[in-house]
Amino acid sequence: MEPAVSLHLAEPDFPSDDQDGALAGRDYGPITPLLNDDTISEVMVNGPNQVYIERKGQLTPVDVKFESDAELIRVIREIASFVGRRIDEESPMVDCRLPDGSRVNAIIPPLAIDGASLTIRKFARDPYTVQDLIGFGSLTAEAAGFLEACVKAHFNILVAGGTGSGKTTTLNVLSSFIPDNERVVTIEDAAELQLRQPHKVRLESRPARIDGSGRISIRELVVNALRMRPDRIVIGECRSGEALDMLQAMNTGHDGSLTTIHANSPRDTLARLETLVLMSGVDLPQRAIREQIASAIHLIVQQSRLRDGSRRILNITEVVGREGDTITLQDVFLFEETGVDGNGKIQGKLSPTGIRPTAMAKIYSKKVALSPALAALYPDRKAPDFTMGVRR
Ligand SMILES: Nc1ncnc2c1ncn2[C@@H]1O[C@H](COP(=O)(O)OP(=O)(O)O)[C@@H](O)[C@H]1O
Ligand SMILES: [Mg+2]
Repeated sequence: MEPAVSLHLAEPDFPSDDQDGALAGRDYGPITPLLNDDTISEVMVNGPNQVYIERKGQLTPVDVKFESDAELIRVIREIASFVGRRIDEESPMVDCRLPDGSRVNAIIPPLAIDGASLTIRKFARDPYTVQDLIGFGSLTAEAAGFLEACVKAHFNILVAGGTGSGKTTTLNVLSSFIPDNERVVTIEDAAELQLRQPHKVRLESRPARIDGSGRISIRELVVNALRMRPDRIVIGECRSGEALDMLQAMNTGHDGSLTTIHANSPRDTLARLETLVLMSGVDLPQRAIREQIASAIHLIVQQSRLRDGSRRILNITEVVGREGDTITLQDVFLFEETGVDGNGKIQGKLSPTGIRPTAMAKIYSKKVALSPALAALYPDRKAPDFTMGVRR
């Protein structure tokens, strides 16, 4: 008999770089080819007779069926057992990360009413780079240059958007601008970020066990991260009371922090942040919360998935201060739609609004290197040769 412990192996703490831990190459019944296909980012099984995939951001049904409910459950068991997890009537849900970083969620009847459901978000071997995003038209080289300068100048940045709008992808790209000599602590619910920097510590929260015990929240990890001498804290998504701890961290010298938030406009982002702070359970007057937000957050990057399926940055907005109880915002880049082409693709460009970002003063005082295009757009007003135009 096998020792009992092997049946309950804990989920590995870190995805290994060794791609042998990947789903690819094993037999998972009819979805095996989908898992082996690197152009597919997500596989969704809704009962034995319905399978959807996401490819290049587009959701499409595929003609793949399982023989029966039992066959689907067998495949789910196979995947779950891969990380030492079981799924049965007693524990009918599994949420886990495979050693290659792919995320798997499975839920079976009776909780899933129309048959077992399996959702696999495959780990992107090659995360999108800033060049990719520029190529997709999600942003321009100019806007990317501005964001890079803001990250290097240690601005606190929120990436806002709806589900699937590309927030995590943009956060990953922003993180890539962090200089190699800085110590980065990342905190996520489900590790997705792929930082290239050598000096990083990755933390992942832990859901409660079946009996409700053992939960470690993002909030606790934020508090712990502050004791780890971070130069930067990157929080995958801010969705609860950790917002307060994050704002306090930003306001007490941990500048340069980055996170994402679920919101539909820069103004909505502020309202959402306020709600999240209230979720911390700490009773703060509204005025105090707004003060904290206005002084902590420097920049909001608003992301959206447009009706043609494209993901775009719609606004790059500065938080410039407060007027009474209202936080003042100022767009520095704005997406302007110019029309729709013959294929239904939305045309337009993320252009500078013409307002000089207040950020430029700090960017210049910190001597952050700028691309010539950006230096031409926002010349250094303090430079001795300012009257001559551009200065590098
Ligand atoms: N700018 C983009 N252009 C095209 N596809 C993108 C872009 N950003 C993200 N994606 C794709 O969209 C999906 C959702 O992206 P993700 O960053 O996880 O969104 P969110 O964090 O907002 O839920 C992923 O498959 C990702 O590869
Ligand atoms: Mg995300």
